[in-house]
Amino acid sequence: MQDRRSGNIVILTGAGISKESGIDTFRDADGLWNKVNIEDVATPEGFARNPAMVHDFYNERRRGLLGDNIRPNAAHAALARLEAEWPGEVLLVTQNIDNLHEAGGSKNLIHMHGEMFKARCEDCHAVHDWREDLSLQTHCPACEAPGGMRPHVVWFGEMPFDMDRIYAALSQCGLFLSIGTSGNVYPAAGFVQEAIFSARAHTVELNLEPSEGATLFAETDYGPATEIVPRYVDKLLAEGW
Ligand code: APR
Repeated sequence: MQDRRSGNIVILTGAGISKESGIDTFRDADGLWNKVNIEDVATPEGFARNPAMVHDFYNERRRGLLGDNIRPNAAHAALARLEAEWPGEVLLVTQNIDNLHEAGGSKNLIHMHGEMFKARCEDCHAVHDWREDLSLQTHCPACEAPGGMRPHVVWFGEMPFDMDRIYAALSQCGLFLSIGTSGNVYPAAGFVQEAIFSARAHTVELNLEPSEGATLFAETDYGPATEIVPRYVDKLLAEGW
């Protein structure tokens, strides 16, 4: 068992942690998947069927994230403070493709569903930092091939990134902390069970409301992330889990 005041921590975040920064979640009443059809914009088949429409969808979301009004909130800042002040290892695994954890100061970070501000060439597989629109006319800066660039994000049916590193961290953590995710999408929704069975970790869910996997967690607290996450981080730094 890991020391409850200095053991390793794995944190999983979802769209709920960015909601108070002005970014829509996916499955809330006003969520993104109530506005567009997942199959059309978040699958390889949808991209093959109509790449221009998928580029338009991500171009609009990318432009939205570049707005001055989109900034990290108190929950992002609290997780960066935890990473800086906690004596053990803190790994932050996010399902989010925004850059608010980096902007909030987190460094030991995995974007398991990719990043909105990156683009990948389907011809040479080079990954580039990217803040402009993408289109079928976009040339890859590395191989110069036209029309092969796509958002560096994970679509349904594709393998999330860095899974080996994530499972290794889950097998060695004393605390698994899940924040702002509905627990609908695997493999992320299974991380709590992985932490329990492979590391006998203490498990905590911080969310606006109970997630699909709420009963799997040893400890829960519900409310807006900007209130409950800083409060939990203060408690963790003062007395451990
Ligand atoms: N504070 C805390 N939690 C919140 C807040 C808030 N202010 N607002 C909403 N939530 C919670 C909701 O209650 C919900 O449980 O955040 C969760 C968001 O759930 P989803 O919209 O399903 O988002 P997420 O869990 O991140 O989705 C996982 O699904 O579509 C894919 O790739 C996409 O990464 C995404 C994945």
